[in-house]
Amino acid sequence: MIVIKMIFPTTRMRRLRKNFKIRTILSETNLNPEDFIYPMFIKEGLKDGQKEHIDTMPGQYRYSLNDAVEEAKRLENKGLSSVLLFGMPRKKDELGSSAYDKEGIIQRAVRKLKEETDLVVITDVCMCQYTHHGHCGIVRNDQILNDETLEYLSQIALSHAQAGADIVAPSDMMDGRVLAIREVLDMNGQEDTLIMSYAAKYASSFYAPFRDAVCSAPSFGDRKTHQMNPRNINEALREVELDIGEGADIVMVKPALPYLDVIKAIKDEYKMPTAAYQVSGEYSMLQAGINAGYLTENSIYESLISIKRAGADLIISHFTPWFLEGDYEFEC
Ligand code: PBG
Ligand code: ZN
Repeated sequence: MIVIKMIFPTTRMRRLRKNFKIRTILSETNLNPEDFIYPMFIKEGLKDGQKEHIDTMPGQYRYSLNDAVEEAKRLENKGLSSVLLFGMPRKKDELGSSAYDKEGIIQRAVRKLKEETDLVVITDVCMCQYTHHGHCGIVRNDQILNDETLEYLSQIALSHAQAGADIVAPSDMMDGRVLAIREVLDMNGQEDTLIMSYAAKYASSFYAPFRDAVCSAPSFGDRKTHQMNPRNINEALREVELDIGEGADIVMVKPALPYLDVIKAIKDEYKMPTAAYQVSGEYSMLQAGINAGYLTENSIYESLISIKRAGADLIISHFTPWFLEGDYEFEC
């Protein structure tokens, strides 16, 4: 028997990295345009041609309905497959009623996008941009009520599906919302609408730039009674298992970079289509570093690759246009 000793000097790992071409063909992980979902902010009442720069997220904008559709079309020509829509309504109230209005900003945007593009249209389903207190549900005596909120979330999701949304994405973290939404969709002939649940959504300080961008910061208290404790991973697995049981088609982990272990554990355990949300704070932190000259654009690529390598099938990222448009090549 010949014993091959696979040790130095026979084995040299550096051979695998000796030049760009070799490194490229031996890459285990790659990013494709269809991996990306672009989050877009659509503001009711904004005039066309007057997109607003979001100062806390350099390079991102709030768009009027028409401008959002134009931007989506432009990116579709560069390979964009899907968008995730966030609305900013003209009026907010106790019940977030503009969230389920058939003529609401998101419902109109969905109809127009489905008419004018071939994009997969995904909608964020939550109440915090639509309630005047900025909470993700119905509030009474300073408490966020779970079961009462489910009825509203279901109506929001149904109105999005009826407008033509391919996927609804509840981001509220109420218990039982996937089941409640599935039932209402099915009762109304929307059994082909997918649900992408923000299954493991952590109570994260990385959302700060987003809350500023869409004016959804809670006016009192915080979101810790429904969003997850950053110290926990077993709990994330339970959350995902429950959502799968309730009928989720795609599960999501959010944020991404500080929770790569959670992405990996969930993908390994459930083999579900798994999305990861590279949130506003992750985006702004990298942009700030790059703008200050401390980092290069390579760090964007590296963080996106890490999310994919951890097991995400889909990446929701504000860097989507950067990835699609860049003549940039990763220096590997
Ligand atoms: C609202 C919602 C949030 C995000 C998406 N949907 C923030 C929050 O919980 O306040 C975060 C997005 C981001 O930071 O990029 N439920
Ligand atoms: Zn919310």
